[in-house]
Amino acid sequence: MRKNILAPSILAADFAHLERDITEAVEAGAEYIHIDVMDGVFVPSISFGMPVIESIRKVTDCIFDVHLMIEKPERYTDIFAKCGADSITVHAEATDHLHRTVQQIKSYGLKVGVALNPSTPLNVLDYVLEELDMVLIMTVNPGFGGQAYIPQMTEKIRTLRTRAKELGLDLNIQVDGGIKESTIRNVLEAGANVCVAGSAVFGKDIRENAGKLLHIMEEYKEY
Ligand code: DX5
Ligand code: ZN
Repeated sequence: MRKNILAPSILAADFAHLERDITEAVEAGAEYIHIDVMDGVFVPSISFGMPVIESIRKVTDCIFDVHLMIEKPERYTDIFAKCGADSITVHAEATDHLHRTVQQIKSYGLKVGVALNPSTPLNVLDYVLEELDMVLIMTVNPGFGGQAYIPQMTEKIRTLRTRAKELGLDLNIQVDGGIKESTIRNVLEAGANVCVAGSAVFGKDIRENAGKLLHIMEEYKEY
């Protein structure tokens, strides 16, 4: 049975207090910690990389969901596996060899996801979907936290959930960008079950913020 999971994005956390912020989110009930790696080429911004992941790996056992917003991610998947990733998601737009990159990640014993930018059609997944643990539907253009949810993405999520059901796949559908109290019901109702939230979690009261989102997610259990 599919499960709803909250994945707070540490991009919005206080980098001077990462251990504290992660601990609060996990204690509130977040099962994944979403880790946004940006290279300044695939997306305009640069975030952080291996040393930060290695450091936080030492202070928590929770699942590290690493979202690589980098060109040619196949160059780095082994390194991120060694740093402590439990799951690696690559962008379909960032590699010429998506199938091979997916196999590479699986060969390390990790979960694998493929992310699609808002304008990328679902059919790029046609010959790889069965290999995946998760598809990440970007609900903003990747690169920055705090952007507004793109409403057309609701239909994209719904279409993917229908396709996965037709194929008999228990696929995790993750959404990322602009997810907060006012938008999370739309994505859950459409069939998403892994919700990334950056600014909606790492604000003033992390426990309270995460608690509110988790409470709504509970309403859509087994949806
Ligand atoms: C955007 C990143 C997101 C970002 C989400 O490129 O992939 O994970 O941190 O931030 P919010 O939830 O603030 O939109
Ligand atoms: Zn992300």
